[in-house]
Amino acid sequence: MNTQPSKPRSHATRYLFLFLLGLVIGSVATVMAVRAIQARKDHFHESVMYVQEWHLGQLKKKVEQNRCTATDVLPNLKALRTMADDLEPAFPDLADDKRFAEHASKMRARLDAALASPPLNCAGVATTAQGIGETCKGCHQDFR
Ligand code: HEC
Repeated sequence: MNTQPSKPRSHATRYLFLFLLGLVIGSVATVMAVRAIQARKDHFHESVMYVQEWHLGQLKKKVEQNRCTATDVLPNLKALRTMADDLEPAFPDLADDKRFAEHASKMRARLDAALASPPLNCAGVATTAQGIGETCKGCHQDFR
């Protein structure tokens, strides 16, 4: 007689257990799936962008720190120029787009000019960094 009411409760416990087990398995499977998808994703274009962002940030930081001799800023300018050659390989889907190629060459031209006559003081470095930043923005407005 008194076993009757306890029966549905034991079912409820079992369902709760199965539900929680399902939840755990589900979240583990989700994490594994997301990791697998991320591992397959090509990180090259992000890497190119983030490294460029870092070097541009370094130029701005050096202005703030008043370290603006050629030896201070040339390494960052050279790195940016080298990586500007990687814009097309980094975005193979966009590389054939004429406007994309134009933005990429604009950035290279800006950096070539900066390397040909490097800025001599912090005001010059600030202007150069701003000019490079404009070439980033130009492409981002059209393609990001
Ligand atoms: C010729 C085109 C082009 C130029 C020049 C360019 N970018 Fe980009 N950038 C892109 C595109 C396209 C994306 C969007 C990538 C995406 O979301 O798949 C992007 C995205 C980014 C991102 C976000 C990356 C991510 O995927 O989360 C950063 C940061 C960035 N760019 C920094 C820069 C900086 C700094 C410069 C200049 C020094 C620059 N970019 C110049 C095309 C360009």
